[in-house]
Amino acid sequence: MDDVVSLDPDLLELARTARTVAVLTGAGMSAESGVPTFREPGKGLWDRWSPAQLATPEAWEADPELVWSWYLWRARQVRLLRPNDGHRALARWARTARVRVVTQNVDDLHERAGSEVLAHLHGSLFAFRCSACGTPYPGDLVDGLGLDRAEGLDEPVRERPPACPACGGPVRPGVVWFGELLPEGAMERAAEAVAQADLVVVVGTSGLVQPAASLPLIAAGRGIPVVEVNPEDTALTPHATWSVRAGSARALPRLAPGGGAEPASR
Ligand code: OAD
Repeated sequence: MDDVVSLDPDLLELARTARTVAVLTGAGMSAESGVPTFREPGKGLWDRWSPAQLATPEAWEADPELVWSWYLWRARQVRLLRPNDGHRALARWARTARVRVVTQNVDDLHERAGSEVLAHLHGSLFAFRCSACGTPYPGDLVDGLGLDRAEGLDEPVRERPPACPACGGPVRPGVVWFGELLPEGAMERAAEAVAQADLVVVVGTSGLVQPAASLPLIAAGRGIPVVEVNPEDTALTPHATWSVRAGSARALPRLAPGGGAEPASR
């Protein structure tokens, strides 16, 4: 396979001169860090697990232990993984342009690469709150359970959600489930970032989940150029000005200006 990602000179020129860039990322952004995607045949999380049993308010009502254990398992996995060259390239880009990252991902790899995230549209694996009174849970539930880091990572291990210190209700993951509202203001901030951008970069999303999937269409409707970075065609491909058919860890370092020293990642 050809290792060099070749990009259209017009795209490279725009990436170099754009003052404001909006980046919409999905699961493919973190795939090369080892975080599984959702819908890829044979390896996506939704191939193996049922979203109806894990990612809905009804699932939580029916079996909070199952839902809690599954998200804690994912959070622990992410803790052991690292940002990839794509995350680092976006952080580097922000040194020379206003780069506004909007992500559907619930991991923290953008932040650990050094990016500020404008909106976590689907919440975070690391922000827990009470399911009854909404109080954020203080403290680190992911590392703070006294488990050996290497244990319990192959499969979710059933455990009870902890009790809220304020009201005793069960603590829930701070992610957005199907049928729930997005975090307050997240979509508004994202839409504004897209509308103000000179270039919109769409990375690693199938474009099948709304309202996130509508963001590139806002850009396309306003004549703002959109580049899609994804090894596969997606529902958003027809709206893209350019399609870069490569993984984000290879493509983004080529696209983002100012190569050289990468910011340290944790
Ligand atoms: P999907 O699993 O639907 O799509 C992942 C996309 O990443 C696919 O289009 C892949 O081709 C692409 N991909 C795979 N490897 C890649 C790589 N190395 N570089 C770039 N792209 C790559 O994931 P999302 O679109 O993020 O929501 O899914 C959206 C939402 O659906 C998620 O946030 C989650 C899920 O249900 C909730 O849980 C609410």
